[in-house]
Amino acid sequence: MKTTTKIALASLALAFGTGAAYASTAQENWENNCASCHGEDGKAQTKQGKKLKIRDYTDAAVQAELKDDAMLNAILEGVKEGGKERMKGFKDELSEQEAKDLVAFIRQLKA
Ligand code: HEC
Repeated sequence: MKTTTKIALASLALAFGTGAAYASTAQENWENNCASCHGEDGKAQTKQGKKLKIRDYTDAAVQAELKDDAMLNAILEGVKEGGKERMKGFKDELSEQEAKDLVAFIRQLKA
């Protein structure tokens, strides 16, 4: 096979590869980093979620209160209330793109 063809095929595989990974990455990141508090389904019916009184992100009224830029900031920088940390920031674990994908992921949890 000619080298140029090989390169073309490799980049094609790469393009499809990342396309498929996109959807699963946000879901995986959610399950690994967020679900312990927010619940896999976003309803926050977990031990932590109940203790911290986290809102149900599948609720349309809650979704309406959420702002994309505030969500992104919360994911990267964390959530503080009265100087106390309610949620840590994930900027050391997640890239800005991954955090943006999580905002989109949370948006599609809406019931
Ligand atoms: C230690 C528990 C905990 C973990 C883990 C956690 N959160 Fe949170 N999160 C909270 C609490 C508490 C709040 C504030 C209460 C609320 O929004 O109902 C919050 C709020 C939020 C908000 C709303 C911010 C706003 O604009 O009001 C978003 C979005 C969010 N979290 C996303 C995430 C994502 C994405 C992850 C994983 C990368 C994550 N959280 C991990 C506890 C957690």
